[in-house]
Amino acid sequence: MAALKMTISCFVFLQVLSCLLSSFALSKALGLKVGFYDMSCPKAELIVKKSVFEAMKKDLTLGAPLLRMFFHDCFVRGCEGSVLLDLKNKKDEKNAIPNLFLRGFEIIDDAKAALEKECPGIVSCSDVLALVARDAMVVLNGPSWEVETGRRDGLVSNISEALSNLPSPFNNISSLITQFHSKGLNKKDLVVLSGGHTIGNGHCPQITNRLYNFTGKGDSDPNLDTGYATSLRKICKPTDTTTALEMDPGSFKTFDESYFKLVSKRRGLFQSDAALLDNQETKSYLLNQMKSDRSTFFKDFGVSMVKMGRIGVLTGKAGQIRKNCRMVNK
Ligand code: HEM
Ligand SMILES: *[C@@H]1O[C@H](CO)[C@@H](O)[C@H](O)[C@H]1NC(C)=O
Ligand SMILES: *[C@@H]1O[C@H](CO)[C@@H](O)[C@H](O)[C@H]1NC(C)=O
Ligand SMILES: *[C@@H]1O[C@H](CO)[C@@H](O)[C@H](O)[C@H]1NC(C)=O
Repeated sequence: MAALKMTISCFVFLQVLSCLLSSFALSKALGLKVGFYDMSCPKAELIVKKSVFEAMKKDLTLGAPLLRMFFHDCFVRGCEGSVLLDLKNKKDEKNAIPNLFLRGFEIIDDAKAALEKECPGIVSCSDVLALVARDAMVVLNGPSWEVETGRRDGLVSNISEALSNLPSPFNNISSLITQFHSKGLNKKDLVVLSGGHTIGNGHCPQITNRLYNFTGKGDSDPNLDTGYATSLRKICKPTDTTTALEMDPGSFKTFDESYFKLVSKRRGLFQSDAALLDNQETKSYLLNQMKSDRSTFFKDFGVSMVKMGRIGVLTGKAGQIRKNCRMVNK
Protein backbone atom coordinates (compact mmCIF):
# COMPACT_ATOMS: atom_id res chain seq x y z
CA MET A 1 0.00 0.00 0.00
CA ALA A 2 2.73 2.41 1.05
CA ALA A 3 4.71 1.36 -1.96
CA LEU A 4 1.75 2.09 -4.18
CA LYS A 5 1.26 5.51 -2.60
CA MET A 6 4.92 6.20 -3.07
CA THR A 7 4.75 5.19 -6.69
CA ILE A 8 1.75 7.40 -7.29
CA SER A 9 3.18 10.47 -5.58
CA CYS A 10 6.46 9.90 -7.30
CA PHE A 11 4.66 9.66 -10.59
CA VAL A 12 2.81 12.92 -9.92
CA PHE A 13 6.04 14.56 -8.84
CA LEU A 14 7.80 13.42 -11.97
CA GLN A 15 4.96 14.69 -14.09
CA VAL A 16 5.06 18.09 -12.47
CA LEU A 17 8.81 18.14 -12.87
CA SER A 18 8.74 17.12 -16.50
CA CYS A 19 5.96 19.61 -17.12
CA LEU A 20 8.01 22.39 -15.56
CA LEU A 21 11.03 21.31 -17.53
CA SER A 22 9.17 21.14 -20.79
CA SER A 23 7.55 24.53 -20.37
CA PHE A 24 10.95 25.95 -19.55
CA ALA A 25 12.42 24.18 -22.55
CA LEU A 26 9.59 25.53 -24.67
CA SER A 27 10.17 29.16 -23.77
CA LYS A 28 13.91 28.65 -24.27
CA ALA A 29 13.56 26.77 -27.52
CA LEU A 30 11.28 29.44 -28.84
CA GLY A 31 14.05 32.01 -28.56
CA LEU A 32 11.61 34.83 -29.09
CA LYS A 33 11.63 37.94 -26.98
CA VAL A 34 10.28 41.43 -26.95
CA GLY A 35 12.95 43.77 -28.28
CA PHE A 36 15.06 41.10 -29.99
CA TYR A 37 16.51 43.80 -32.30
CA ASP A 38 17.18 46.40 -29.58
CA MET A 39 20.94 45.95 -29.98
CA SER A 40 21.30 44.66 -33.53
CA CYS A 41 18.90 47.07 -35.21
CA PRO A 42 17.49 49.55 -32.72
CA LYS A 43 15.33 51.33 -35.27
CA ALA A 44 13.74 48.15 -36.65
CA GLU A 45 10.33 48.53 -35.03
CA LEU A 46 10.19 52.22 -35.82
CA ILE A 47 10.98 51.60 -39.47
CA VAL A 48 8.22 49.01 -39.78
CA LYS A 49 5.74 51.28 -38.02
CA LYS A 50 6.56 54.10 -40.39
CA SER A 51 5.93 51.94 -43.47
CA VAL A 52 2.56 50.83 -42.11
CA PHE A 53 1.48 54.33 -41.09
CA GLU A 54 2.46 55.79 -44.47
CA ALA A 55 0.67 53.09 -46.44
CA MET A 56 -2.48 53.18 -44.34
CA LYS A 57 -2.65 56.95 -44.52
CA LYS A 58 -3.44 56.39 -48.18
CA ASP A 59 -5.57 53.28 -47.75
CA LEU A 60 -7.05 52.35 -44.39
CA THR A 61 -8.57 49.15 -45.77
CA LEU A 62 -5.08 47.62 -45.93
CA GLY A 63 -5.16 47.00 -42.19
CA ALA A 64 -7.49 44.00 -42.42
CA PRO A 65 -5.57 41.96 -45.00
CA LEU A 66 -2.32 42.71 -43.16
CA LEU A 67 -3.71 41.19 -39.97
CA ARG A 68 -5.04 38.25 -41.91
CA MET A 69 -1.68 37.79 -43.66
CA PHE A 70 0.05 37.15 -40.33
CA PHE A 71 -2.64 34.65 -39.29
CA HIS A 72 -2.29 32.84 -42.61
CA ASP A 73 1.48 32.82 -42.27
CA CYS A 74 1.38 31.33 -38.79
CA PHE A 75 -1.11 28.57 -39.60
CA VAL A 76 0.97 27.18 -42.45
CA ARG A 77 4.42 25.89 -41.39
CA GLY A 78 4.39 28.32 -38.47
CA CYS A 79 5.18 32.03 -38.42
CA GLU A 80 8.16 31.87 -40.77
CA GLY A 81 7.17 34.05 -43.69
CA SER A 82 6.19 31.27 -46.08
CA VAL A 83 3.09 33.21 -47.12
CA LEU A 84 5.37 35.84 -48.67
CA LEU A 85 7.28 33.56 -51.04
CA ASP A 86 6.72 33.71 -54.80
CA LEU A 87 7.48 30.47 -56.63
CA LYS A 88 8.06 30.47 -60.38
CA ASN A 89 5.60 27.62 -60.85
CA LYS A 90 2.97 29.54 -58.83
CA LYS A 91 2.45 26.55 -56.53
CA ASP A 92 3.05 28.81 -53.54
CA GLU A 93 0.79 29.57 -50.59
CA LYS A 94 -0.21 32.90 -52.09
CA ASN A 95 -1.95 31.11 -54.91
CA ALA A 96 -4.03 28.88 -52.65
CA ILE A 97 -7.73 29.80 -52.67
CA PRO A 98 -7.88 31.09 -49.07
CA ASN A 99 -5.02 33.48 -49.84
CA LEU A 100 -6.29 34.95 -53.10
CA PHE A 101 -7.77 37.99 -51.38
CA LEU A 102 -4.66 38.78 -49.34
CA ARG A 103 -3.30 42.25 -50.15
CA GLY A 104 -0.55 44.51 -48.95
CA PHE A 105 2.51 42.42 -49.86
CA GLU A 106 4.13 45.61 -51.20
CA ILE A 107 4.00 47.11 -47.71
CA ILE A 108 6.01 44.18 -46.39
CA ASP A 109 8.45 44.73 -49.28
CA ASP A 110 8.73 48.46 -48.49
CA ALA A 111 9.37 47.85 -44.81
CA LYS A 112 11.90 45.14 -45.61
CA ALA A 113 13.73 47.38 -48.12
CA ALA A 114 13.99 50.13 -45.52
CA LEU A 115 15.25 47.62 -42.96
CA GLU A 116 17.88 46.24 -45.33
CA LYS A 117 19.17 49.77 -45.84
CA GLU A 118 19.40 50.41 -42.11
CA CYS A 119 20.78 47.03 -41.02
CA PRO A 120 21.29 44.48 -43.79
CA GLY A 121 20.55 40.84 -43.12
CA ILE A 122 19.31 41.34 -39.58
CA VAL A 123 15.52 41.53 -39.47
CA SER A 124 13.48 38.56 -40.70
CA CYS A 125 10.47 38.82 -42.97
CA SER A 126 8.45 36.78 -40.49
CA ASP A 127 9.14 39.36 -37.79
CA VAL A 128 8.14 42.11 -40.20
CA LEU A 129 4.78 40.37 -40.61
CA ALA A 130 4.32 40.11 -36.85
CA LEU A 131 5.14 43.79 -36.32
CA VAL A 132 3.03 44.95 -39.24
CA ALA A 133 -0.05 43.11 -37.93
CA ARG A 134 0.25 44.94 -34.61
CA ASP A 135 1.00 48.35 -36.13
CA ALA A 136 -1.94 48.06 -38.53
CA MET A 137 -4.31 47.46 -35.60
CA VAL A 138 -2.96 50.53 -33.86
CA VAL A 139 -3.77 52.65 -36.91
CA LEU A 140 -7.34 51.32 -36.78
CA ASN A 141 -7.64 52.43 -33.14
CA GLY A 142 -7.48 48.81 -32.12
CA PRO A 143 -5.39 47.01 -29.54
CA SER A 144 -1.66 47.24 -29.19
CA TRP A 145 0.63 44.61 -27.75
CA GLU A 146 4.30 43.95 -27.33
CA VAL A 147 5.45 41.86 -30.27
CA GLU A 148 7.96 39.12 -29.58
CA THR A 149 10.65 38.98 -32.25
CA GLY A 150 13.57 36.73 -33.15
CA ARG A 151 11.85 34.59 -35.77
CA ARG A 152 13.80 33.38 -38.79
CA ASP A 153 12.46 32.78 -42.26
CA GLY A 154 11.52 29.44 -43.77
CA LEU A 155 12.61 28.08 -47.14
CA VAL A 156 9.47 26.35 -48.32
CA SER A 157 6.08 27.41 -49.62
CA ASN A 158 3.57 24.78 -50.68
CA ILE A 159 0.12 25.54 -52.09
CA SER A 160 -1.50 22.36 -50.82
CA GLU A 161 -0.29 22.95 -47.28
CA ALA A 162 -2.08 26.32 -47.30
CA LEU A 163 -5.29 24.61 -48.37
CA SER A 164 -5.10 21.96 -45.70
CA ASN A 165 -4.02 24.15 -42.79
CA LEU A 166 -6.16 27.25 -43.16
CA PRO A 167 -9.63 27.10 -41.66
CA SER A 168 -12.52 27.43 -44.08
CA PRO A 169 -15.54 29.71 -43.58
CA PHE A 170 -17.68 26.58 -43.98
CA ASN A 171 -16.07 24.75 -41.05
CA ASN A 172 -18.14 23.64 -38.09
CA ILE A 173 -17.14 24.27 -34.51
CA SER A 174 -15.49 20.90 -33.93
CA SER A 175 -13.23 21.37 -36.96
CA LEU A 176 -12.35 24.90 -35.88
CA ILE A 177 -11.51 23.78 -32.35
CA THR A 178 -9.39 20.92 -33.70
CA GLN A 179 -7.56 23.13 -36.16
CA PHE A 180 -6.74 25.76 -33.56
CA HIS A 181 -5.82 23.09 -31.05
CA SER A 182 -3.38 21.56 -33.52
CA LYS A 183 -1.62 24.93 -33.58
CA GLY A 184 -1.47 25.18 -29.80
CA LEU A 185 -4.40 27.56 -29.55
CA ASN A 186 -7.38 26.92 -27.29
CA LYS A 187 -11.08 27.70 -27.48
CA LYS A 188 -10.63 31.11 -25.94
CA ASP A 189 -7.98 31.99 -28.52
CA LEU A 190 -10.36 30.84 -31.24
CA VAL A 191 -13.12 33.14 -30.03
CA VAL A 192 -10.89 36.10 -29.26
CA LEU A 193 -8.99 35.91 -32.55
CA SER A 194 -12.21 35.48 -34.52
CA GLY A 195 -12.88 38.98 -33.20
CA GLY A 196 -10.44 40.02 -35.94
CA HIS A 197 -13.52 39.83 -38.14
CA THR A 198 -14.52 43.22 -36.75
CA ILE A 199 -12.54 44.64 -39.68
CA GLY A 200 -12.43 43.92 -43.37
CA ASN A 201 -14.41 42.06 -45.98
CA GLY A 202 -15.61 38.72 -47.10
CA HIS A 203 -16.95 37.81 -50.52
CA CYS A 204 -20.25 36.39 -51.79
CA PRO A 205 -19.14 32.84 -52.61
CA GLN A 206 -18.29 32.32 -48.94
CA ILE A 207 -21.93 32.83 -47.94
CA THR A 208 -24.26 32.16 -50.89
CA ASN A 209 -24.86 28.64 -49.56
CA ARG A 210 -26.27 30.25 -46.40
CA LEU A 211 -28.62 32.47 -48.39
CA TYR A 212 -30.14 30.12 -50.95
CA ASN A 213 -31.66 26.69 -50.49
CA PHE A 214 -29.55 25.96 -47.43
CA THR A 215 -31.28 22.72 -46.40
CA GLY A 216 -32.86 21.96 -49.76
CA LYS A 217 -36.19 23.56 -48.84
CA GLY A 218 -35.51 26.88 -50.55
CA ASP A 219 -34.53 28.34 -47.20
CA SER A 220 -31.61 30.23 -45.71
CA ASP A 221 -29.32 29.04 -42.91
CA PRO A 222 -31.46 28.84 -39.76
CA ASN A 223 -28.44 30.09 -37.84
CA LEU A 224 -28.50 33.33 -39.82
CA ASP A 225 -30.84 36.14 -38.80
CA THR A 226 -33.62 36.16 -41.44
CA GLY A 227 -33.66 39.93 -41.85
CA TYR A 228 -29.92 39.90 -42.34
CA ALA A 229 -30.24 37.05 -44.84
CA THR A 230 -32.76 39.10 -46.82
CA SER A 231 -30.43 42.08 -47.06
CA LEU A 232 -27.48 39.84 -47.94
CA ARG A 233 -29.49 38.25 -50.77
CA LYS A 234 -29.82 41.73 -52.29
CA ILE A 235 -26.04 42.01 -52.42
CA CYS A 236 -25.14 38.43 -53.35
CA LYS A 237 -26.96 36.77 -56.23
CA PRO A 238 -26.46 32.98 -56.32
CA THR A 239 -23.69 33.04 -58.93
CA ASP A 240 -21.88 36.20 -57.77
CA THR A 241 -18.20 35.39 -57.25
CA THR A 242 -16.73 38.86 -56.85
CA THR A 243 -18.76 41.21 -54.66
CA ALA A 244 -17.15 42.14 -51.36
CA LEU A 245 -19.14 42.25 -48.12
CA GLU A 246 -18.29 44.12 -44.96
CA MET A 247 -18.05 41.64 -42.11
CA ASP A 248 -18.94 44.30 -39.53
CA PRO A 249 -21.20 46.52 -41.63
CA GLY A 250 -20.53 50.22 -41.14
CA SER A 251 -17.45 49.76 -38.96
CA PHE A 252 -15.29 47.54 -41.13
CA LYS A 253 -12.43 50.02 -40.84
CA THR A 254 -12.66 50.28 -37.06
CA PHE A 255 -11.30 47.66 -34.75
CA ASP A 256 -13.89 47.30 -31.98
CA GLU A 257 -15.74 44.65 -29.99
CA SER A 258 -18.90 44.78 -32.12
CA TYR A 259 -18.12 41.39 -33.72
CA PHE A 260 -19.24 39.54 -30.60
CA LYS A 261 -22.57 41.35 -30.51
CA LEU A 262 -23.10 40.63 -34.21
CA VAL A 263 -22.40 36.94 -33.82
CA SER A 264 -24.63 36.65 -30.76
CA LYS A 265 -27.45 38.25 -32.77
CA ARG A 266 -26.87 35.62 -35.49
CA ARG A 267 -25.39 38.24 -37.78
CA GLY A 268 -21.96 36.73 -38.09
CA LEU A 269 -21.14 36.56 -41.79
CA PHE A 270 -19.65 33.08 -42.10
CA GLN A 271 -20.78 29.70 -40.85
CA SER A 272 -17.47 29.65 -38.99
CA ASP A 273 -18.52 32.82 -37.14
CA ALA A 274 -21.97 31.44 -36.32
CA ALA A 275 -20.36 28.17 -35.23
CA LEU A 276 -18.86 29.84 -32.17
CA LEU A 277 -22.36 29.58 -30.65
CA ASP A 278 -22.47 25.81 -31.14
CA ASN A 279 -20.13 24.81 -28.33
CA GLN A 280 -20.86 25.62 -24.69
CA GLU A 281 -17.36 26.84 -23.99
CA THR A 282 -16.84 28.96 -27.10
CA LYS A 283 -20.35 30.35 -26.67
CA SER A 284 -19.66 31.42 -23.13
CA TYR A 285 -16.35 33.04 -24.14
CA LEU A 286 -18.24 34.85 -26.86
CA LEU A 287 -20.98 36.09 -24.54
CA ASN A 288 -18.38 37.11 -21.96
CA GLN A 289 -16.53 39.15 -24.55
CA MET A 290 -19.80 40.75 -25.52
CA LYS A 291 -20.59 41.74 -21.94
CA SER A 292 -17.09 42.92 -21.10
CA ASP A 293 -15.72 46.26 -22.07
CA ARG A 294 -13.46 47.07 -24.96
CA SER A 295 -10.31 46.97 -22.86
CA THR A 296 -10.90 43.32 -21.96
CA PHE A 297 -11.19 42.34 -25.61
CA PHE A 298 -8.16 44.40 -26.55
CA LYS A 299 -6.05 42.87 -23.80
CA ASP A 300 -7.20 39.32 -24.65
CA PHE A 301 -6.61 39.93 -28.33
CA GLY A 302 -3.02 40.96 -27.68
CA VAL A 303 -2.41 37.88 -25.53
CA SER A 304 -3.79 35.54 -28.18
CA MET A 305 -1.87 37.30 -30.96
CA VAL A 306 1.39 36.80 -29.06
CA LYS A 307 0.46 33.14 -28.63
CA MET A 308 -0.37 32.79 -32.32
CA GLY A 309 2.95 34.45 -33.11
CA ARG A 310 4.79 31.57 -31.45
CA ILE A 311 3.39 28.84 -33.70
CA GLY A 312 6.14 26.78 -35.31
CA VAL A 313 8.73 29.54 -35.21
CA LEU A 314 12.27 29.04 -36.49
CA THR A 315 14.91 30.52 -34.20
CA GLY A 316 18.59 30.32 -33.45
CA LYS A 317 20.31 28.84 -36.49
CA ALA A 318 17.20 27.43 -38.16
CA GLY A 319 16.00 28.96 -41.40
CA GLN A 320 17.55 32.18 -42.66
CA ILE A 321 17.08 35.93 -42.76
CA ARG A 322 15.75 36.51 -46.24
CA LYS A 323 17.11 39.50 -48.15
CA ASN A 324 13.97 39.72 -50.24
CA CYS A 325 10.77 38.52 -48.60
CA ARG A 326 9.53 37.04 -51.86
CA MET A 327 12.40 34.57 -52.35
CA VAL A 328 14.82 32.44 -50.38
CA ASN A 329 18.42 33.62 -50.44
CA LYS A 330 20.53 32.35 -53.33
C1 HEM B 1 -11.59 30.95 -37.15
C2 HEM B 1 -11.30 30.66 -38.39
C3 HEM B 1 -11.33 31.68 -39.47
C4 HEM B 1 -11.93 31.55 -40.67
C5 HEM B 1 -12.69 30.33 -41.17
C6 HEM B 1 -11.73 32.77 -41.39
C7 HEM B 1 -12.18 33.00 -42.68
C8 HEM B 1 -12.11 34.21 -43.31
C9 HEM B 1 -12.63 34.48 -44.63
C10 HEM B 1 -13.29 33.46 -45.54
C11 HEM B 1 -12.42 35.78 -44.89
C12 HEM B 1 -12.82 36.56 -46.14
C13 HEM B 1 -11.65 36.82 -47.02
C14 HEM B 1 -12.04 37.53 -48.28
O1 HEM B 1 -12.99 37.09 -48.93
O2 HEM B 1 -11.38 38.52 -48.66
C15 HEM B 1 -11.77 36.34 -43.75
C16 HEM B 1 -11.40 37.65 -43.64
C17 HEM B 1 -10.65 38.14 -42.61
N1 HEM B 1 -10.16 37.42 -41.54
FE1 HEM B 1 -10.63 35.55 -41.05
N2 HEM B 1 -11.01 33.62 -40.62
C18 HEM B 1 -10.74 33.00 -39.44
C19 HEM B 1 -9.98 33.51 -38.41
C20 HEM B 1 -9.33 34.72 -38.45
C21 HEM B 1 -8.31 35.13 -37.52
C22 HEM B 1 -7.74 34.28 -36.41
C23 HEM B 1 -7.94 36.39 -37.89
C24 HEM B 1 -6.91 37.29 -37.28
C25 HEM B 1 -6.70 37.40 -36.01
C26 HEM B 1 -8.74 36.75 -39.04
C27 HEM B 1 -8.70 37.97 -39.66
C28 HEM B 1 -9.42 38.28 -40.79
C29 HEM B 1 -9.48 39.61 -41.35
C30 HEM B 1 -8.84 40.85 -40.79
C31 HEM B 1 -10.24 39.53 -42.51
C32 HEM B 1 -10.59 40.64 -43.49
C33 HEM B 1 -9.61 40.59 -44.64
C34 HEM B 1 -9.80 41.66 -45.69
O3 HEM B 1 -10.58 42.58 -45.53
O4 HEM B 1 -9.10 41.56 -46.73
N3 HEM B 1 -9.55 35.70 -39.36
N4 HEM B 1 -11.58 35.37 -42.80
C1 LIG C 1 3.44 19.87 -50.73
O1 LIG C 1 2.85 19.28 -49.62
C2 LIG C 1 2.14 18.09 -49.91
C3 LIG C 1 1.37 17.70 -48.68
O2 LIG C 1 2.15 17.75 -47.54
C4 LIG C 1 3.12 17.04 -50.38
O3 LIG C 1 2.46 15.84 -50.70
C5 LIG C 1 3.83 17.58 -51.62
O4 LIG C 1 4.84 16.69 -52.04
C6 LIG C 1 4.46 18.95 -51.36
N1 LIG C 1 4.91 19.52 -52.61
C7 LIG C 1 6.18 19.86 -52.81
C8 LIG C 1 6.48 20.47 -54.12
O5 LIG C 1 7.04 19.72 -51.95
C1 LIG D 1 -17.77 18.81 -38.69
O1 LIG D 1 -17.05 18.75 -39.90
C2 LIG D 1 -16.24 17.61 -40.00
C3 LIG D 1 -15.36 17.76 -41.22
O2 LIG D 1 -16.07 18.25 -42.32
C4 LIG D 1 -17.11 16.35 -40.05
O3 LIG D 1 -16.32 15.19 -40.15
C5 LIG D 1 -17.92 16.30 -38.77
O4 LIG D 1 -18.83 15.23 -38.81
C6 LIG D 1 -18.68 17.60 -38.54
N1 LIG D 1 -19.23 17.59 -37.19
C7 LIG D 1 -20.48 17.94 -36.93
C8 LIG D 1 -20.88 17.88 -35.49
O5 LIG D 1 -21.25 18.31 -37.77
C1 LIG E 1 -33.25 23.12 -53.48
O1 LIG E 1 -32.61 21.91 -53.13
C2 LIG E 1 -33.41 20.77 -53.38
C3 LIG E 1 -32.71 19.55 -52.80
O2 LIG E 1 -31.37 19.55 -53.14
C4 LIG E 1 -33.68 20.65 -54.88
O3 LIG E 1 -34.49 19.53 -55.14
C5 LIG E 1 -34.37 21.93 -55.36
O4 LIG E 1 -34.53 21.89 -56.74
C6 LIG E 1 -33.58 23.16 -54.97
N1 LIG E 1 -34.35 24.36 -55.25
C7 LIG E 1 -33.81 25.38 -55.91
C8 LIG E 1 -34.70 26.56 -56.14
O5 LIG E 1 -32.67 25.38 -56.33
